[in-house]
Amino acid sequence: MRILLVGLVLFLFVSFFVVWFGAFNVAATKQHSKLALWVISIVRDRSIAVRAAASPPEPSLADAQRIKTGFRSYHTMCTVCHSAPGRQPSPVRQGLNPKPPRLQSKEVQRRSNAELYWIIQHGMRMTGMPAFGPTHSTEKIWNLVAFIRELPKLSPQQYKAMVKAEGLSDEMADADADQGESVMAP
Ligand code: HEC
Repeated sequence: MRILLVGLVLFLFVSFFVVWFGAFNVAATKQHSKLALWVISIVRDRSIAVRAAASPPEPSLADAQRIKTGFRSYHTMCTVCHSAPGRQPSPVRQGLNPKPPRLQSKEVQRRSNAELYWIIQHGMRMTGMPAFGPTHSTEKIWNLVAFIRELPKLSPQQYKAMVKAEGLSDEMADADADQGESVMAP
């Protein structure tokens, strides 16, 4: 019992000094260890899989109007972090840790529609992925899921053509970074 108590006091003492002297580096430029990344990915995937069961019933996603509306939302709200076919990575994307995955990638496309819905609705704490539920209707979030399913089929030219057809701006919101000049060129 005494050993346990001494151990606990010692642990609290050491923890206090680790925190107080800033031994933990919170910099986004510092990568997590491989072990930490592995643990985080399991915690994340299980958390999403269990909670996604409560996502609202799925409407028909193969609907041209729905996909188009989803594209508009995606282009204005998501490309700064997740990029898009043929698009250069923005400074925001390049500076984020964890790096936002490209949503056309296999790792993202393997998720169920309910999981994608849940992620967009609730976001992911401590990653930079915002929750769009507080600002967007169920319909709008399903529109985004519908468009994400179309993303892998789009070539850079097709994506560009959609931006033009919808009269959206192709300008990077943050295209003024010193480091980014070379990659920002059209
Ligand atoms: C400020 C940056 C930022 C914005 C804006 C953003 N995201 Fe994310 N998103 C992230 C980050 C970072 C992750 C990775 C989290 C992690 O490591 O698991 C992520 C993860 C995701 C994932 C899960 C990928 C996977 O399978 O692990 C989806 C789906 C997603 N975002 C969709 C969207 C959509 C749709 C939008 C726009 C409506 C959006 N995001 C806007 C930063 C962002």
